[in-house]
Amino acid sequence: MSLTPPARLDAIPIDRLPTLLRQMPKAELHLHIEGSLEPELIFALAARNGVTLAYDSVESLRAAYAFGDLQSFLDLYYAGASVLLHEADFFDMAMAYFRRAAADHVVHAELFFDPQTHTERGVPIDAVINGLLRACEAAEAEFGITSLLILCFLRHLSEDAAFDTLAQALPSIEKHRARLVGIGLDSSERGHPPEKFARVYARCHELGLRLVAHAGEEGPPAYIWSALDVLKVERIDHGVRCVEDPSLVARLAAERVPLTVCPLSNVKLRVFDTLAQHNLARLLELGLCVTVNSDDPAYFGGYINQNFVETFEALPSLTSAHAYTLARNSFEASFATSSQKAQWIESLDSHFLNI
Ligand code: ADE
Ligand code: ZN
Repeated sequence: MSLTPPARLDAIPIDRLPTLLRQMPKAELHLHIEGSLEPELIFALAARNGVTLAYDSVESLRAAYAFGDLQSFLDLYYAGASVLLHEADFFDMAMAYFRRAAADHVVHAELFFDPQTHTERGVPIDAVINGLLRACEAAEAEFGITSLLILCFLRHLSEDAAFDTLAQALPSIEKHRARLVGIGLDSSERGHPPEKFARVYARCHELGLRLVAHAGEEGPPAYIWSALDVLKVERIDHGVRCVEDPSLVARLAAERVPLTVCPLSNVKLRVFDTLAQHNLARLLELGLCVTVNSDDPAYFGGYINQNFVETFEALPSLTSAHAYTLARNSFEASFATSSQKAQWIESLDSHFLNI
């Protein structure tokens, strides 16, 4: 694995930046598969499954995508997920995402899924997991994308409910270790600190699962500290509020804890008023291991390339050297094997050398 970026990096002209961003190989590490459900697919699945929606057209549903904060988004996101009932629905949803991701030159994706959103409605957890597993395999065959799955616990529910979900998922986790590699924590952040899930994370650690958690999206830097120290996570999802605490920034930089940042999401959910005010460039300047991701692309105005292109447009200090760093970080921060990472970084290097 090369240790330095290709030498010609600064010679890449600025007008070629959008094409470079779009075409460079990359990994996506923060993607809620239920958040990739486009309104058209919501309506198609509702018709297929006989589910009645509160909106009468794709246009009226899309028009409702104006969010004041995380909770106002989550209310619609859970309503959208209500059309998912059968294994085939989870398969179709994930294949639609993989098709988009492949077009954006994503070569590896780590997908979050929220089993409790479905099991609470009576959907068997096996329908969720088997549909996603089948899609991961089909995507590798059809698009050459490798993928892993990360089961997320909903933090607005209790730790007992998380333990119950873990018990339901355990046979699949044991059978599909190579694919179902980790757990995460998502949903309403404020008022639901990481400490609430200390015991279930400890159990998952004993089981050898990889650990991540959303922290510092709307919640304070204290939640990032406790995700690190209490939950013992390896990556922080979002984490943009770390800048409010210089000692936390120093810790994240020293330990190279990856932050999976989602710029368009942060603007849609009013974490930042505009993309020009986003702190992605600052996080990079501070030496943090930042990656760019789409979070819930169907709801937030774009997939990963849209996030890259719009963010670089809005933050003129970002250059091709930053593009390289962000793509490289995405591979280094992934849960893939060292040999997969080395191969991707080699192809990233040759991509930058050959433009
Ligand atoms: N679930 C889906 N998207 C989320 C986000 N951005 N934050 C927390 N939970 C989520
Ligand atoms: Zn998220």
